[in-house]
Amino acid sequence: MKIEPLSYYSKRSQNVPTSFVREILKVASDPEIISFAGGLPNPAYFPLIELQKCVQQVFEKQGTKTLQYAATEGFLPLREFIAERYKGLYGLEVSPSQILLTNGSQQGLDLVGKLFIDPGDRVLMERPTYLGALQCFSMFQPVFEEITLEEEGVDPVELSKILVQTQPKLFYCIPNFQNPTGLQYSHKRRQEIAKVLSATSSILVEDDPYGAISFSEELIPPIYKYLPQQTILLGSFSKTVSPGLRVGWILASEEIIRRLAVMKQASDLHSANLSQHLLFQFLKTYNFDNHVAKIRAAYKAQRDVMIESIAAFFPPDVSYTKPKGGMFTWVSLPEKIQARALLERALKEKIIFVPGDSFYVTQPDLQTLRLNFSNVDRERTRQAMKKLGKLILNY
Ligand SMILES: Cc1ncc(COP(=O)(O)O)c(C=O)c1O
Repeated sequence: MKIEPLSYYSKRSQNVPTSFVREILKVASDPEIISFAGGLPNPAYFPLIELQKCVQQVFEKQGTKTLQYAATEGFLPLREFIAERYKGLYGLEVSPSQILLTNGSQQGLDLVGKLFIDPGDRVLMERPTYLGALQCFSMFQPVFEEITLEEEGVDPVELSKILVQTQPKLFYCIPNFQNPTGLQYSHKRRQEIAKVLSATSSILVEDDPYGAISFSEELIPPIYKYLPQQTILLGSFSKTVSPGLRVGWILASEEIIRRLAVMKQASDLHSANLSQHLLFQFLKTYNFDNHVAKIRAAYKAQRDVMIESIAAFFPPDVSYTKPKGGMFTWVSLPEKIQARALLERALKEKIIFVPGDSFYVTQPDLQTLRLNFSNVDRERTRQAMKKLGKLILNY
């Protein structure tokens, strides 16, 4: 049967923006293409040998338990490990009953959308923001509001104004090394933002998949620390261990976690039991901090090469962020050059990136683009930035 007209499909599905990133990644499968488009962790730092050993140990020790249905909330020792880390890193008293394991933090977004967003509800997003969150929340047909992301985070005065004017149910932000800009909220801003939010009934959705990939020793606590009852904090092992395992988590009040667990049960019963056991075995056997330190050092070196190459080869009227962690830098081109047009020229040089327009709710800034620095080695990054710089200079 051919399903037409469009009205056969749910209204909610028709509102979801398609991902230009995914379209571009199809091109990236050509081995000659140098891709700065994806948000892929570098597979050189996946703990392949270690996980291989862990698979054996998990099956030997846990047997068929790992192949059985399991609790919706997730494997308790793994939830305890996560709770302990929040205590160790930030002095947060977190109970494992406040943690729900999810299929990556992307599922965290979906469950939050299911629990909180009715059609027409307002949801405040950073400008620009993570495309995957825009896609996910669009399913629930909210009205999006935007707040400009500045160097040190969103402006608390502006935030207060927008919260009062629009009364959003949720404010979604990515305070550490944001996708797409690489920016990090300062400690001061986090405290100010918590204070502003505490005077409202808006819930903060704090998405933090990149926090562990910091290039400095400065440890800034999550906003959650200053607003625990009103914050839903999302975390993930995708950037620190492997995205293919699909293990992330939600930290929130016990009441919210109980309700989110019902949403999850209706959605997929539980996340893959084997992945959770495997990951826990890895965390138990190896030193997680040492493992993450290797990734941090490697990405920092790759960031350095990208930023130094941009400084050397791009014309001075191009501006860019200098991320203190994560995987992305955000570039603003001179007014006469649109990123999509530049991409067409770059493709001829076998270089790809993501034009920034996909990351906006409204009125996209067409001169912006996102460059990923975690996945291409240093020499190729340098060569590609040199070519890209030439294309911009001679535009
Ligand atoms: C800001 C942000 N949130 C969430 C995700 C989803 O990550 P995962 O579901 O693999 O944990 C990503 C992935 O790139 C991201 O950049």
